Amino acid sequence: MNMQDYDRVYALWMKCKNMGFNNLDDSREGVERLLRRNPNTSLVATDGDTLAGVILSGQDGRRGYIYHMSVAEAYRRQGIGSQLVERCLSALKAEGINKAALLVFNRNEAGSAFWEAQGFTVRNDVAYRNKALTEMVRIDT
Ligand SMILES: CC(C)(COP(=O)(O)OP(=O)(O)OC[C@H]1O[C@@H](n2cnc3c(N)ncnc32)[C@H](O)[C@@H]1OP(=O)(O)O)[C@@H](O)C(=O)NCCC(=O)NCCS
Repeated sequence: MNMQDYDRVYALWMKCKNMGFNNLDDSREGVERLLRRNPNTSLVATDGDTLAGVILSGQDGRRGYIYHMSVAEAYRRQGIGSQLVERCLSALKAEGINKAALLVFNRNEAGSAFWEAQGFTVRNDVAYRNKALTEMVRIDT
């Protein structure tokens, strides 16, 4: 993925239900910052000029994080999501990363089934905690 994909990627994100975005990290500037630091780990799948899917991911030198994973409705259940994950994980591994993590809303049953199928297990022994350092607006789809 590069910044030329951004508008189409954002439009696809907004069409996907049960995902969590915000006005800072998912803005053009926010995504550009992530891609600048992680040029190899976010990927798009295209069909001609049409965006079929996208995985947004990066790493901080220790963990890989998958932030958003979307496949356009017309392209689902064809293995495109799985291929994007596989290639993303290969890219993270090539950068020396040993574990990747992601968040998915509990209400996102299809998303959870997809991640289960990709081998991402649920941790019940930890609570996810976070703290915003800058005020941001949540955009939950
Ligand atoms: C989740 C999503 C990315 C899956 O993409 P995809 O290209 O359809 O996934 P694949 O075809 O590679 O599916 C691989 C496997 O995941 C599971 N899976 C995928 N979609 C599923 C669904 N809707 N319900 C149940 N299981 C599902 C299945 O085990 C599937 O294998 P199968 O088709 O042989 O049964 C896509 O449905 C999507 O973009 N959803 C909206 C956004 C979202 O929820 N993202 C994930 C949370 S961040």
